[in-house]
Amino acid sequence: MTVDLQPTFGLKDSIERRRAARAFRPDAIPDVILAEILRLGMRSPSGYNLQPWRFIVLREPDSKEKLKACAFNQPQITQAPVVLICCGDRTVGRSDYVEALIKMGMEQGAINDAYADVMRQQIPALFENHPSFEAIEAWTNRHTMLAVAHLMIVAKSFGVDSCPMEGFSTAQVKEAFKIPDSIDVCCLLCLGYATEPFKKFGGRFSYEQVCFAETYGHTFLL
Ligand SMILES: Cc1cc2nc3c(=O)[nH]c(=O)nc-3n(C[C@H](O)[C@H](O)[C@H](O)COP(=O)(O)O)c2cc1C
Repeated sequence: MTVDLQPTFGLKDSIERRRAARAFRPDAIPDVILAEILRLGMRSPSGYNLQPWRFIVLREPDSKEKLKACAFNQPQITQAPVVLICCGDRTVGRSDYVEALIKMGMEQGAINDAYADVMRQQIPALFENHPSFEAIEAWTNRHTMLAVAHLMIVAKSFGVDSCPMEGFSTAQVKEAFKIPDSIDVCCLLCLGYATEPFKKFGGRFSYEQVCFAETYGHTFLL
């Protein structure tokens, strides 16, 4: 379903107003808004368009209580109307998945026969040789967290606040929600409407402190 929902905030405001919410009001997120946040969040890029992110959407109080017990009892989890368990699928290099991806790309006119063959060759090689990551968990997290960043900014643009969370026990979350071994739990994401107490903005290092010119460690100035 496509709904022409207009965001409340533009991009700059959405980025500057997004804060990790520490408390949420009980108000539900309307389904049309949640659907649009998910749709736009998943416009996030991924290597070969493999889209390894997977989200378990919790809205039932019992499910959130169960998750809270796996997350050091952080209260945001039961307050927020929606909590996503944000996961990454290690198995997206398998041939049936790659073929489904090729089919979708061909239907979109984005993939031709030659590029389909490139994908059939290169994707298995990526997971076999993995020159850009040491452990597959780094790869799943790389992609899923990028989608989470999209989700948080898009959510804020529709007036929906968020709290990304790494304070949880992976083993407990996997067991409680029947998550297979091949799926990594990358973070939890609370979504809803923030209320007090807000943490004061902690600031950010300037680009001069975190960007380097041409070689690591060389001062970069604009
Ligand atoms: C990967 C990640 C994990 C985080 N884990 C938690 C968490 O478990 N609990 C929590 O309250 N906040 C968590 N946060 C929120 C950070 O504390 C917050 O983003 C940071 O203090 C900066 O504040 P701001 O997002 O409001 O600018 C996490 C943020 C990120 C990106």
